[in-house]
Amino acid sequence: MFSSIAPSYDTLNRLLSFGVDRRWRRQAARAALRGGAERVLDVATGTGDLAMTLAELAPQAEVVGVDFAEPMLDRARAKARAHGAHIHFEVGDGTRLRFPDDSFDAVTIGYGLRNFDDIDAGLREFLRVLRPGGRLVVLEFPPPPGGLFGALYRFYFTRVLPAVGGLVSGRGSAYRYLPASVMAFPSPQALADLMRAVGFVDVGYHLQTMGVSAIHRGEKAA
Ligand SMILES: C[S@@+](CC[C@H](N)C(=O)[O-])C[C@H]1O[C@@H](n2cnc3c(N)ncnc32)[C@H](O)[C@@H]1O
Repeated sequence: MFSSIAPSYDTLNRLLSFGVDRRWRRQAARAALRGGAERVLDVATGTGDLAMTLAELAPQAEVVGVDFAEPMLDRARAKARAHGAHIHFEVGDGTRLRFPDDSFDAVTIGYGLRNFDDIDAGLREFLRVLRPGGRLVVLEFPPPPGGLFGALYRFYFTRVLPAVGGLVSGRGSAYRYLPASVMAFPSPQALADLMRAVGFVDVGYHLQTMGVSAIHRGEKAA
């Protein structure tokens, strides 16, 4: 599915989020880099926007991007080349990473965890490759909030977005999958509990743009 929407993925991100997605990723990258990081892994990197933001904010850091959809990575590589960013992109499954234990100062994943068949397996794998004291940052769309804003957002998300996304990408199913996967994703509190359950410490989260997006963070015990 992600391979098939790769050509229009970036355009639709900007369009459907009214351009706010860049700010959400920037805030996530800052959260991951807080305290300094020399080696950073961006899992489910897609077309590389979060990896490129990390590289821009920490030019001395080694940034690695992993995704299992090669056409998304082709775009990531082209964008990194065009921006002179030195990022290593490679194919890989986020639940079975090839990296040794304790090998990254920070691990990030932007709008990727929701798509994992096994969220626990992903979180355990992120914990394994983090060095003690290293930080995980998960950027994800929580299920829509309640209230009037939530009702408006729900309408936009379940009606307008799939229609526009389907029209522009030619892949209606991918943009029907997006709201369905968000509705099925754990609430921010439940995701924080999952992170603690697999062993992360200092777990917390904050909501972005009235709860449309959320940044989760957790650390591997030092
Ligand atoms: C919505 S995109 C997010 C891309 C990028 N992180 C961003 O912020 O735009 C989700 C990405 O997750 C990738 N993905 C989903 N499950 C994966 C897994 N188990 N291992 C690696 N990549 C995965 C997909 O191929 C897709 O590129």
